Amino acid sequence: MHELTLPSRTQTTRAATAFDVERVRREFPTLDVQLNGRPLVYLDNAATTQKPVAVIESLARFYRKYNANIHRGVHRLSVQATNEYERARTSVAKFLNADFEEIIFIRGATEGINLVAQSFARPRLRAGDEILVSHLEHHANIVPWQMVCEQTGAKLRVIPIDDRSDLELDALPKLITERTRLVAVNQASNALGTINAVDEIVAAAHAHNVPVLIDGAQAVSHMPVDVRALGCDFYVFSGHKVFGPTGIGALYGKRALLDAMPPYQGGGDMIRTVSFGKTTYADPPQRFEAGTPNISGAIGLGAAVDYLTELGVERFAPYEDDLLAYGTELLSAIPGVRLIGTAERKVPVLSFTVDGVHPHDAGTILDQLGIAVRAGHHCAQPVMERFGVPATVRASLAFYNTRAELDQLASGVRKAIEVLG
Ligand code: ALA
Repeated sequence: MHELTLPSRTQTTRAATAFDVERVRREFPTLDVQLNGRPLVYLDNAATTQKPVAVIESLARFYRKYNANIHRGVHRLSVQATNEYERARTSVAKFLNADFEEIIFIRGATEGINLVAQSFARPRLRAGDEILVSHLEHHANIVPWQMVCEQTGAKLRVIPIDDRSDLELDALPKLITERTRLVAVNQASNALGTINAVDEIVAAAHAHNVPVLIDGAQAVSHMPVDVRALGCDFYVFSGHKVFGPTGIGALYGKRALLDAMPPYQGGGDMIRTVSFGKTTYADPPQRFEAGTPNISGAIGLGAAVDYLTELGVERFAPYEDDLLAYGTELLSAIPGVRLIGTAERKVPVLSFTVDGVHPHDAGTILDQLGIAVRAGHHCAQPVMERFGVPATVRASLAFYNTRAELDQLASGVRKAIEVLG
């Protein structure tokens, strides 16, 4: 076993005092609700985040003041809705340091990965080709690749992880071969929190001209993301994990790659001309946004990334690091608790098992105490299998959590041991 070191995302010792968490908490109405008659302690942010007033109001404003379809009407409401939808695209592009045309609105990270699997990978794959993923992936970054492998005869290969849950990047030179057609990895693991060295992975893949997709679903709410600096070819994330609405997300793709890709779905708004003889397609991003999109969702996502940009990741990242270190210390001090995922660089995720207590039972006891966590395999069954457990309890944090909430988590876990252990 490795000695437990306290994880840190930034490896800095910056004080976490500058961040005014109480002010920020007031911007999130759900943080005030009661759970089982107790003040909610919301520690399930990797599943979905709570929404600030700025996001809630952007949705209400759309439905109250200018609800209309986009790209279709000459009337004033439609023009306003179109402008706001496209303004949201500008916000997301700025958020990722991409160009406007490189941002496609999608249902979420899952749809983005499926889109790339079917529109980019599938036409390029031949039997015997390889797609490389990691052992740390969410099912959303495994299953779409398995499906395209079944369709083409390609094979899935896997970057292994070590006992601390770091990727074994030493294996890359062997794993990236002349048959590799794409590498798809997450920037941060949803189940364990490991931050992956995606810059190293991109460099290793690009040395062989292999494109890279990064699943940023668990990263975007915790660290600055610059797709140009990363050099990745595709990047996906979901709006609801970044304080925006559900059912919306964004796919970034390098312009030249998107230009060369066929549509993912056919329908209205993605065409240039249609006749029964031949249809020609619009340029990206419209080519990949068939049908009436999630207009309010996109507007809400724009509001969310604007909110996050204004809040400033540089301000809250040290605060989150402090929470993670504090939570790690508290849980490690409880006899019978095993922390799973002890990588040095982590987003604030505490995944653990408790001797003699099933994770679902621990989750139920915590729920009775007003503490919301996720218990299960976290849609990452290969990760659970790697660590020899069927499930874990997962407390996943955001910048609006507090040390006091972590104290409550720790005493809730002690209570679960007392009752069930
Ligand atoms: N992917 C989400 C999670 O990790 C749902 O909980």
